[in-house]
Amino acid sequence: MQILTKNWHKIDPLNIDSYIRTGGYEALQKAIREMKPAEAIDEVKKSGLRGRGGAGFPTGEKWELAAKTPAKEKYFICNLDESEPGAYKDRIIAEKNPHQIIEGLLIGAFAVGAKKAFIYINGHYQKQDEILKIALEQAREKEFVGRSVIGSAVDIEIDIFQGAGAYICGEETALINSIEGKRGEPRLKPPYPPVAGLFGKPTIVNNAETLANVSYIIKRGAKVFSEIGAAVSPGTKLFVLEGAVKNRGIHEAPLGTTAQELVYNSLYGGGLEDGKEFWFAQIGGASGRLMPVGKLDQPLVYGKCEYPLGCGSIFVADKNADLKDLLFSWADFFHRESCGKCVPCREGTYRLWEIAKRLKSDDLLERDRKNIEDILWTLSNTTFCPLGNFASVAWSDAIKMFPDKIFNDQ
Ligand SMILES: Cc1cc2nc3c(=O)[nH]c(=O)nc-3n(C[C@H](O)[C@H](O)[C@H](O)COP(=O)(O)O)c2cc1C
Ligand code: SF4
Repeated sequence: MQILTKNWHKIDPLNIDSYIRTGGYEALQKAIREMKPAEAIDEVKKSGLRGRGGAGFPTGEKWELAAKTPAKEKYFICNLDESEPGAYKDRIIAEKNPHQIIEGLLIGAFAVGAKKAFIYINGHYQKQDEILKIALEQAREKEFVGRSVIGSAVDIEIDIFQGAGAYICGEETALINSIEGKRGEPRLKPPYPPVAGLFGKPTIVNNAETLANVSYIIKRGAKVFSEIGAAVSPGTKLFVLEGAVKNRGIHEAPLGTTAQELVYNSLYGGGLEDGKEFWFAQIGGASGRLMPVGKLDQPLVYGKCEYPLGCGSIFVADKNADLKDLLFSWADFFHRESCGKCVPCREGTYRLWEIAKRLKSDDLLERDRKNIEDILWTLSNTTFCPLGNFASVAWSDAIKMFPDKIFNDQ
C-alpha cells in the first residue's frame, strides 16, 4: 500500500507540472473551493491521522485547537528539522516530491486560518532547501501560494527558515524560539503552541511526513484513509531500516505492520545480510527502545504501546554488533545535543558520556555501575524536556537486557 511514495518515480521535483499531472494540488483546490475550514479539519479528524514527528498526537484535534483559539494572526509550521541519527525520511520526501509537503502545509494553513506559514528546515540540508525554494517559486507562479490563492479570498504566504542543525530545534517550542531569533531552547508547556506559539499566537507545528498525508485525505476522503493500517493509527508510515538488514533504506508500509515483517519480508528489509544473526532492533531512532527477538511480533503503531514508534527508524543489530560502541555513540550524540537549559540533562548526559568513553576502552571504574543507575534515573525522571529521557532509553534497556556485555569486567 503506497500513499506517500506512490508517484515518486513519476515526479520531477524541479517541475511542478509533473506533480500536477499526478493529481497534485487538486486537494488544495477542493479544500478552498468546496470546503469550509472547519470541514477540512473535520475530515482530517475523522481520518485518524496522527503526527509522524514522534509523539503521534491526533492531527485534526491539534488543528481544531488552533482554529478555535481567537487571534488576529495564526501561524503554521512544517517541521523539517530531522536531526535524529538514523532518521532521513522527511528530507527524502522534500527531495523526491516537495509539493506533497507544500500542498499539505497550504491545506493546514487554510484549515486553521493561518496567513503565514514556514518550512523550518535543518540548515545542513542544502540540497532539499534548494529544491523547496524552486518548488515554492513555481507554486507561487501558479497562484497556489501568496495573495488570493487560486483566485479565492484566502492568502497564504510560505517562507523557508533555515535552522542551524541542532537536534533540540526539532522540539516544537525550541523551533519556535529559533524562528523568533532566540536561543533554541524548549519552552515550558502549557501553553501549547496551538494556543500560544510563534510570537505568542496560535501556531501549528506538524512534521513534514504528517503534512504529506493531508492531500490524500482531502482528495479520497477520511473513510478511505481510516481503513488503511491500524485502527488506533491509520495510514501508512515511512519506515527507515538500517543496520544488518539486506534492504536498507526507506520502506512505506501500513501502520500496524510488525517489526518481524519489516525486518524479514522481502517487500521491506528482506532479512539479515548473509551470515548475520538477529540480536535486537532499536525502534524509533537513537531515542528508541531496544526490542529483543521475542517481541518482534509487536505491531508498530502510534498510540499506547510497549515500543513507541517515534520517527519510524529501525536499526537492526546483529550478534556481532559492538554494544559498547553503540552505547558510546548514543551517549556521544545526546551529550552533544543537550541544549544546556536544565542541570539534570546538561550534567547527566555529560557524565554518561564520560562513563561511555571509559566503557568503550574497557576502563570502567568501580563506582561507575552505581553512577550509571543514578544518572539514568535522573535523566528519565527530572529533565525539563523529553530529550533528557531520550538519552536514557536505550541505555536503560541495554543494561536490563545485556548486563553481562556491559559489566563483563566487574
Ligand atoms: C528533542 C526532540 C526533538 C524533536 N525533533 C523533531 C523533528 O526533528 N521533527 C519533528 O517533526 N518532530 C520532532 N520532535 C517532535 C516535535 O516537538 C513535535 O511534536 C512535532 O513536530 C509535531 O508534529 P506532528 O504532530 O506532525 O508529529 C522532537 C521532539 C523532541 C522532544
Ligand atoms: S532536557 Fe536537555 S535538551 Fe531539554 S531543556 Fe533540559 S538541557 Fe535542554
